[in-house]
Amino acid sequence: MCCPRRNTEIYPYRMNVLVLGSGGREHALSWKISQSSLCEKLFIAPGNAGTSSVGQNVDISVNDFPTIKTFVLENDINMVVVGPEDPLVNGIYDFFQNDSALSDICLIGPSKEGAKLEGSKDYSKQFMMRHNIPTAAYGSFTAETLKEGCDFLETLNPPYVLKADGLAAGKGVLILDELETAKAELKAMLTEAKFGKASSTVVIEEFLDGIELSVFVLTDGKNYKVLPSAKDYKRIGEGDKGLNTGGMGAISPVPFADSIFMEKVENTIIKPTVFGLQEENIDYKGFIFIGLMNVGGEPFVIEYNVRMGDPETEVVIPRIKSDLLNLFRGIAMGTFGEQDFYVDEDVATTVMLVSGGYPESYEKGKEIVGLEEVENSLVFHAGTKEDNQKVLTNGGRVMALTSFGRTMEEALEKSFDNAKKIHFDGKYFRRDIGFDLKEEKV
Ligand code: AMP
Ligand code: GLY
Repeated sequence: MCCPRRNTEIYPYRMNVLVLGSGGREHALSWKISQSSLCEKLFIAPGNAGTSSVGQNVDISVNDFPTIKTFVLENDINMVVVGPEDPLVNGIYDFFQNDSALSDICLIGPSKEGAKLEGSKDYSKQFMMRHNIPTAAYGSFTAETLKEGCDFLETLNPPYVLKADGLAAGKGVLILDELETAKAELKAMLTEAKFGKASSTVVIEEFLDGIELSVFVLTDGKNYKVLPSAKDYKRIGEGDKGLNTGGMGAISPVPFADSIFMEKVENTIIKPTVFGLQEENIDYKGFIFIGLMNVGGEPFVIEYNVRMGDPETEVVIPRIKSDLLNLFRGIAMGTFGEQDFYVDEDVATTVMLVSGGYPESYEKGKEIVGLEEVENSLVFHAGTKEDNQKVLTNGGRVMALTSFGRTMEEALEKSFDNAKKIHFDGKYFRRDIGFDLKEEKV
């Protein structure tokens, strides 16, 4: 059994930590971990041009488990923190557990079974049903039950929500106004592999009309800490128009997630989720990211993710005052339930700079200048790389500018000011992050 165990030889006072991933999320996590007095050496695989300022990048892919093993053993790694969902869904936790050379090393992330909460929409809906967790009414269908799926659509009011069961790079959800289009898309997903194997099962859901937010939980599988709430802005265009992206900016906390709403979230969603994991003997030591819809003041789960969000991490983690590595160590040693947890009251905002053309095709390798001009914001790199002492773009989402303020407006002003000081060919950012949360609107 990996953790919990109170073995200070395995989790010594100062630990060597490996973070897996290469986005803004992993830069924010590494930035926070690097501030801990418990951190001896910090490695990030594969990392980006920003993570190398807080630790050492190592050129290993997050899904290359054998190479990760060799690195972990050769570098006396005490703790592995997994950023993205892919290695979790592929079973990295179980890979460590089932290898006697690795099983004492604490890996922050759920087991393969736990990761199904994100890896399969059908599995997560069944889990919510078993534990009475509020979510949209639904049905699951396969090619064999296409007719039943069409009949089910007829019982619903538009718009129609179709979801590929498996991971589809954030593209597997369709929201359609017309019944006939919904039936045609259902057929394409089930019988023409519209989203490949991911859509061999499709979840059809009742449409929830409300405003979205995300709540994050860190758990040892039994105890939990509720991390700050956040709202991200997924569309490329201002006013939430255009194609979906990984996320163009985020705000924390969410003004309408007040104590009354959060109490409902804790009692009707967080507690039954953690209790459900425990009851079903699902090993889960890591983050749960709960995508919620606030429907007239009542929270409903839209989805679970088994990791932190990106760019939500870039506002959530900087607001945490407690030592994150100490909390991870508490998870490993079985003391997590007794640990204190403090959050900064100020508002954090982040604005993402992206490459021209994103989320469709875009060019990489553009030189980024002006970073030294940034004042009063944290810069979390996402798609960047170093080349001959230059920083170049290396992805669609390039970097996130996180700022604090007593109000959202005050924080946003700093993020936007700094967004204008950084330059690269094709730079784009949304200038309306938080537009729907302005005081007169909530
Ligand atoms: P998901 O991948 O399940 O988070 O869905 C992607 C996006 O589709 C969500 O962020 C929501 O904006 C929207 N969505 C998903 N399910 C529903 C639903 N039942 N009702 C309304 N919108 C939904
Ligand atoms: N920003 C949404 C996500 O990380 O899934």
